[in-house]
Amino acid sequence: MSVKNLGYLGFGVKDVQAWRTCLAGKFGLMEAGYIDGNALFRMDSRAWRIAVHQSEDDDLAYTGYEVANAEGLAQMTERLRQAGVTVSPGDAALAKRRGVIDLISFVDPFGLTVELYYGATEVFEQPFVSTTGVSGFVTGNQGLGHIVRCVPDALKTLEFYTKILGFEMSDIVDLTLGPDMKIPLYFLHCNERHHTLAIAAIPVPKKIHHFMLETLSMDDVGFAYDRLGLDNVITTTLGKHTNDHMFSFYSKTPSGIEVEFGWGARTVDDTWAVTRHNTVSIWGHKPVGRAE
Ligand SMILES: [Fe+2]
Repeated sequence: MSVKNLGYLGFGVKDVQAWRTCLAGKFGLMEAGYIDGNALFRMDSRAWRIAVHQSEDDDLAYTGYEVANAEGLAQMTERLRQAGVTVSPGDAALAKRRGVIDLISFVDPFGLTVELYYGATEVFEQPFVSTTGVSGFVTGNQGLGHIVRCVPDALKTLEFYTKILGFEMSDIVDLTLGPDMKIPLYFLHCNERHHTLAIAAIPVPKKIHHFMLETLSMDDVGFAYDRLGLDNVITTTLGKHTNDHMFSFYSKTPSGIEVEFGWGARTVDDTWAVTRHNTVSIWGHKPVGRAE
């Protein structure tokens, strides 16, 4: 038993209104509710996938990974406790806010709150309609997308997510930061999405470098590139990644965390074997609007 997929993300941000414009008005998510500075966004049939809360932190606040059922949650709780992790059972009020049947929470080795849950709310009776006309997002068994976790000690974090939560290695990219400086990026999967979580010892001021959303059509990415190009927030050109073959570009959220907006990634299956790469992109993903 291990986690099934990345089910939701929650951000604590200084400018909730700017995030509403970013996620709904630019990336085409559907706003599912806005109450007292808390905004919820949909990407599919789930009641919500991304939450944005008023906070001075301006960072990712929590990640929610899905397990299959109550038995799965109990097994993961036991595994975490045996590994010495302090686990908080989710109370009824928190479960209600998240729209899940039950959940637990704990922190990863570098202070990111992780929630495991089962029983998310589906709202097929209220069809997903993108604010900007995005044709849809790749979710389902692959979850909402991926995140790149930035930590001081990548190996310690890698051990936590693989040995306890059950993620498996997809590949490693040795990122060149200087003539004699390479940093390994570890890409991990928990379903057929090539990576749900990447871990790197990259010095960024946020808990993650970016989160990735995958659209159903190449044109969805192109239209978003045009919409965001007018705002001076795009940080890379269009490109294609070496490992998951994602066609994508990167853009800044109002909190500085980046969004990778992509299409067409390849998936992994039981025949997958770990590989390594010397660079992150086959072509493109060139820096835009920032010093290299
Ligand atoms: Fe990415």
